[in-house]
Amino acid sequence: MFSRKATHPSHLRLFLLLLLLALVAGFALTQEANQPVSVENTLRDPWWKHAVIYEIYPRSFQDSNGDGVGDINGITSRLDYLKNLGVDAIWITPMYPSPQVDFGYDIADYEKIDPQYGTMADFDRLVSEAHKRDIRVIMDWVPNHTSDQHPWFLESRSSRDNPKRDWYIWRDGKGPGKPPNNWQSWFGHSAWTYDQKTGQWYYHYFYVQQPDLNWRNPEVRKAMYDVLRFWLDHGASGFRMDAVSRLFEDPNLHDDPILPGKNAFGDPNIQHKYTDDLPEVHDVLREIRQLVNGYPGNPVLISEADEPTIQDLVKIYGVNDDEVQLPMDFQVADVNKLSAPRFRELLDQIEFNPVAGQPYFFFNNHDQARTWDRYGDGVHNDQIAKLMATLLLTTHATPQMYYGEELGMRTTTPTRIEDVKDPVGRTGWPKDKGRDGERTPMQWDNSKDAGFSSADETWLPIPPSAAEYNVAVEEHDPDSILHFYKRVISLRREFPALRDGAYVAVNRDDPNVLAYLRKTPNSAAVLVALNMSAQPQTVSFKLSGFGVTGKSLEVLLASPKQASAQLGLENVQLVSFGVLIASVK
Ligand code: GLC
Repeated sequence: MFSRKATHPSHLRLFLLLLLLALVAGFALTQEANQPVSVENTLRDPWWKHAVIYEIYPRSFQDSNGDGVGDINGITSRLDYLKNLGVDAIWITPMYPSPQVDFGYDIADYEKIDPQYGTMADFDRLVSEAHKRDIRVIMDWVPNHTSDQHPWFLESRSSRDNPKRDWYIWRDGKGPGKPPNNWQSWFGHSAWTYDQKTGQWYYHYFYVQQPDLNWRNPEVRKAMYDVLRFWLDHGASGFRMDAVSRLFEDPNLHDDPILPGKNAFGDPNIQHKYTDDLPEVHDVLREIRQLVNGYPGNPVLISEADEPTIQDLVKIYGVNDDEVQLPMDFQVADVNKLSAPRFRELLDQIEFNPVAGQPYFFFNNHDQARTWDRYGDGVHNDQIAKLMATLLLTTHATPQMYYGEELGMRTTTPTRIEDVKDPVGRTGWPKDKGRDGERTPMQWDNSKDAGFSSADETWLPIPPSAAEYNVAVEEHDPDSILHFYKRVISLRREFPALRDGAYVAVNRDDPNVLAYLRKTPNSAAVLVALNMSAQPQTVSFKLSGFGVTGKSLEVLLASPKQASAQLGLENVQLVSFGVLIASVK
């Protein structure tokens, strides 16, 4: 990262600097055609600080060969749509060879593409086409576990003295049929599975088919770091690191504390005290950061670590800002109800926390019910979708979207256990019906399979709502959720305050309306107001004391539309779940 001071040298120095950077950029582009390095990136903030990142679940985005499953060429064919939406980077969930028990999160080869998604040549073409459109590609790196079909595990389980035995966590049981301790899998039941052939148990935080790698073994570390280099060399601009807080377990195998009650799988609730967030994780995160720092173009690390408090979350940035640039904020993602005080409190925690890392927000992903219904009240869901879009895209956090949220795609949960594809849904039925509901195919238009595929059957069914909520329909409707997303994304680029401004909460005592300013010293402040209640609200904004002199509001975007483009600061009307974004003049 370059300091801001470097942007203000004398004219001659500036000219020489630009010339040098242009030469460096030109050189980098020729040397590494896949790495976009622009003068702008090098001079200003790292690209990921202002990027809109868009998660693609490749099985469900676009099928190009008619087998009912999405693929890489399908993604490439939709890049113009993403460009037009305003996306800067795509994170693609795993497309490596896999038995697909966990739909790609059980990897059998980290350095190949699964034939059902295409070839390495297809991948390289995707990267180069994405770069032509200034879209970066972020890979999913799954370091905690492999598939039980990975050659490493096949070797490891073949005998106790196999050189790869120690690449996984093998232990003796406590007695016949008794696992080494009480640790539980996140996906239900014991985290230990007995292996008949060698008479020991192996540990798996997730499915039985996902044995955990032993991160205390230096060979494992080296092999997994080589994976990062492999994809960086193929043009990846960074990694979303799967389940990274779970890399280490207590070597002494202490039992986890049991909590009251039972979970959806019928097991006693448990605190994953000895298998999650062990301090050793930070050594690995520092090593990874050093590795990616050695590559041009500011590769980014995004961590999936569901940290329970802000204090835990900030640790992931590293004491010297030398670990993860963008730790996912699960606290904000999982408020799960529209509550102005609760969102205000969480945003405050970020503002007032001494560690000044870049926040990273998301509300949707492939593991959680979609916001359209999770935050929707059953009556105003489309309006609430716009409100959530505004919250996602107007704080200073880097926002992450999930395919289809820009359409108001909803969660379409299977209604019969025999239709469930996600094994979690079969183990947890009916309390936990799994994650199929948020993974249904992207809704493009009103043709067969909503334009996702030409197959007679798609891997998950097309939701009935696709007829109304799809790209083609919404592109023609100026009030659509899609248009709203596009508009907010473009405001982020147009208005310096929305891009760079500090976040300042205003009207702090309002129990219904979350309101904040984004404010820079040299440009008009932008006010964002979100009525998080079903009741219309009349709000007077008290901006004095915040260094804002303007006395009126110029509406930049409102949903529903405000009657007038100019408003005073007093008695602003916000209908149920109404949204206002305005420049303070
Ligand atoms: C992460 C993924 C999830 C997967 C799990 C195990 O939480 O997001 O989809 O099942 O890791 O790899």
